[in-house]
Amino acid sequence: MSKEQKVAIITGASQGIGSALVKAYRSRNFRVVATSRSIEESGDRDIAAVRGDIAKPDTADRIVATALERFGRIDTLVNNAGVFLAKPFAEFTLEDYDHNMGVNLAGFFHVTQRASAEMLKQGSGHIVSITTSLVDQPIAGLPAALAALTKGGLNAVTRSLAMEFAKTGVRVNAVSPGIIKTPMHAAETHAALATLHPVGRMGEIGDIVDAVLYLEAASFVTGEILHVDGGQHAGRW
Ligand SMILES: NC(=O)c1ccc[n+]([C@@H]2O[C@H](COP(=O)([O-])OP(=O)(O)OC[C@H]3O[C@@H](n4cnc5c(N)ncnc54)[C@H](OP(=O)(O)O)[C@@H]3O)[C@@H](O)[C@H]2O)c1
Repeated sequence: MSKEQKVAIITGASQGIGSALVKAYRSRNFRVVATSRSIEESGDRDIAAVRGDIAKPDTADRIVATALERFGRIDTLVNNAGVFLAKPFAEFTLEDYDHNMGVNLAGFFHVTQRASAEMLKQGSGHIVSITTSLVDQPIAGLPAALAALTKGGLNAVTRSLAMEFAKTGVRVNAVSPGIIKTPMHAAETHAALATLHPVGRMGEIGDIVDAVLYLEAASFVTGEILHVDGGQHAGRW
């Protein structure tokens, strides 16, 4: 294995899970390309900030170019940028559809295609995407068909690419969260959201970071959808 300092791209890095992932990868001595629409320079020379809409191919071009120009390689891609919108199926607008498909699916496709090309040349790499356990365990009263459509696609493509890349040294995994305390959920909703988990509480950002770091180190694990959801996917409660 190369002794060169490794490089991770983290999307949706300005807040919530993505921002914590940037800190976690830096604490493991990775250099990081942190990207989102509003990301700020951090003052750390080993973090490159790239601003842009992850749904757009040119943002993916700039992310990968920055990783190669500034740090010379790409070892890990965390597809963390994502949006979530709960509403009855009949009420989704065309804008809702385009926005969810754009961020959650096009936002995976463009950057993963470009980053994986570099990983395949290198003969090593790790791609991990953040999905949701609502794909496996939809909840009555929490209508979220666009989350199922888009994040379900990510679960499926995780297994598909894990097979396609299996002999290349590039692993492909996903973390499937329950509902996590991030800026996505206002504090006044936390008590109600806690009841949506068999364990009776919401998840913490650190629960998801730990899962990503486990997958990062787990060299025999590929095609895994690691549920970190307080038991949601396991059954009814
Ligand atoms: N929190 C939960 O309960 C939960 C549960 C299941 C799955 N997840 C998934 O976990 C991931 C992170 O969630 P979170 O709760 O940390 O989210 P969050 O606090 O809402 O942060 C979302 C991040 O994505 C970025 N982003 C949003 N739209 C973007 C776009 N068009 N282009 C580029 N970046 C964009 C945001 O940055 P900018 O605004 O600067 O662009 C922000 O950094 C998401 O994929 C989410 O679906 C979260």
